[in-house]
Amino acid sequence: SATTYEAEVSPALCTGTIDSNWSGYSGTGFCNGNNTVGAYAQFTVNASAAGTATLRVRFANGVATARPASLIVNGSTAQAPSFEGTGAWTTWVTKTLTVTLNAGGNTIRFNPTTASGLPNIDYLDVTTP
Ligand code: GCU
Ligand code: CA
Repeated sequence: SATTYEAEVSPALCTGTIDSNWSGYSGTGFCNGNNTVGAYAQFTVNASAAGTATLRVRFANGVATARPASLIVNGSTAQAPSFEGTGAWTTWVTKTLTVTLNAGGNTIRFNPTTASGLPNIDYLDVTTP
């Protein structure tokens, strides 16, 4: 089943501000991370059983240059997604990533690796078997 975790809803964390100035987001806003290395967006997600999960992270990147990040699952870097330009801050797209989760609570952190920071992050959708 799939569950959507909004970036602006606790216990999600945003090293920056929750903004609502660019339309098209889900919920009441999005995470505008600070434009600096390590200004992360973090989600706490539940999995009923351990195993492979599909993540869909919704984001907008209004500049032409992609913004790379580490995807850190339960404290370990799992992969290195890069968030491409979407053409406008109001153009939101989803990126699909596959990770392994533990049963119960898991922390999923997108940690930017350049001074550009993250794109604006709307939500994380998690599908578990
Ligand atoms: C602009 C935009 C923000 C965005 C920022 C960025 O300031 O309004 O929503 O987060 O650029 O480059 O990260
Ligand atoms: Ca930003």
